Amino acid sequence: MTMSNTTQSAIEYTEDGLRIEPEAFVKQLPNLSYQQGVLTIEAVSADDLVKHYGTPLYVYSKQTILDAYHAYSDSFAAIEHQVCYAVKANSNLAVLKVLAQAGAGFDLVSAGELARVLAVGADPSKVVFSGVGKTAAELKAALQAGIGCFNVESLSELDTLNTVAAKLGVQAPISIRVNPDVDAKTHPYISTGLKDNKFGISHDVAVAAYQHAQQLEHLNIVGIDCHIGSQLTEIDPFVAALDKVIELIEALKHVGIELEHVDLGGGLGVLYIDEEVAKVSEFAAALLPKLQQLGLKVLFEPGRSIVANAGILLTKAEVLKPTKHKNFAIVDAAMNDLIRPALYQAQMAVIPTHSQSYANAHTSADDKPNEKSWDIVGAVCETGDFLAKQRLLSLAVGDVLAITGAGAYGFVMSSNYNSRPRPAEVMVAADKHQVVRQREKIEQLYELESVFEG
Ligand code: LLP
Repeated sequence: MTMSNTTQSAIEYTEDGLRIEPEAFVKQLPNLSYQQGVLTIEAVSADDLVKHYGTPLYVYSKQTILDAYHAYSDSFAAIEHQVCYAVKANSNLAVLKVLAQAGAGFDLVSAGELARVLAVGADPSKVVFSGVGKTAAELKAALQAGIGCFNVESLSELDTLNTVAAKLGVQAPISIRVNPDVDAKTHPYISTGLKDNKFGISHDVAVAAYQHAQQLEHLNIVGIDCHIGSQLTEIDPFVAALDKVIELIEALKHVGIELEHVDLGGGLGVLYIDEEVAKVSEFAAALLPKLQQLGLKVLFEPGRSIVANAGILLTKAEVLKPTKHKNFAIVDAAMNDLIRPALYQAQMAVIPTHSQSYANAHTSADDKPNEKSWDIVGAVCETGDFLAKQRLLSLAVGDVLAITGAGAYGFVMSSNYNSRPRPAEVMVAADKHQVVRQREKIEQLYELESVFEG
């Protein structure tokens, strides 16, 4: 595939590092722009957000979330389907509420996520529960809530679910997550559909697993599911996985097991820097003919592709430390706030909230910093604490930077390491903005602790 013109002009790899031309770059991202030289999300400027809420700050665009959701619902309008947003990508109640109101269902992996979706009034019948290690207590809570389907990942889970359902005197709707052994061609930590991964029940023993489920009185077989990995940029692995699932659906029919739905999981990637990512409409075009023929209801569990580019993380340069070998820009966000770069060597774009034209208009030529290659790092005491490496930027102390693509697997993976309070989260809609999670206070970090009195 060839790079789009915008990508080519927005990104330049040089010997000293990566140069992102911010104004061209944000043209590829929804609802982000520079207005009078200031980065603006929907109609709210980063300057206003920083003034109101400080940094580090997660900011989410409501419109971007809705548009991403509708990209799925519109692309698959021709078939009966349900988008079950993967809560793990961003579980803020404000995000969940926007999606619930738009008609989304949810894909959960814990009792905590169940409580969150119930808290925003989600329809439990549109909820599926995935995960390799659901506890009996979690299964009970989900049965009591009346969720739509349990995506079961092992024989042992089938047995436990049957026992829990029997005690409650109910039937548990189930799907078996099959591991199709398809290479998702993504980072090994986020690839889940290979036979080496802990996820799902192997393709070759899946029919036997369904037959086992059939024997269990309190289980009601309704579907089949798979999820092969995350940040997939190509469509072929999805098609390969669907083909394997269709084979299984046929094999199940032969032994008298009829299904109501097929759940294809999540996994579609997003643009972080210059990835050529398949669009939801292309994904739909590749899958629709096969799905139409199948005639079953189709579920999807997208996470990242709904929220990643709805979010940015604003962070301030606190300390600039140029050295002979490397230049470090130490910012007020760190690996505890956004761990993707440290954990997966994920490349995320870092752009200034003031464009060059703004700097030209507001800074005298003498004060203007020269461009340098910076490692953007946090204040955490770990060498692995970086947000980006070798980025060409003109930086001064106090400048605010934006990390884009931070709406998915950002705040949800944050921690309090080094006793750092986690950032506030804000949602923006047109020219309105509101805090949707307050910045943590230092006292809250140890409010569950006590000194030993023995
Ligand atoms: N369904 C299941 C069963 C999953 O395990 C996942 C993600 C999803 C749906 C949603 O996948 P998505 O559409 O977001 O790709 N923390 C990593 C990503 C981990 C994904 C885990 N499972 C990252 O920051 O890249």
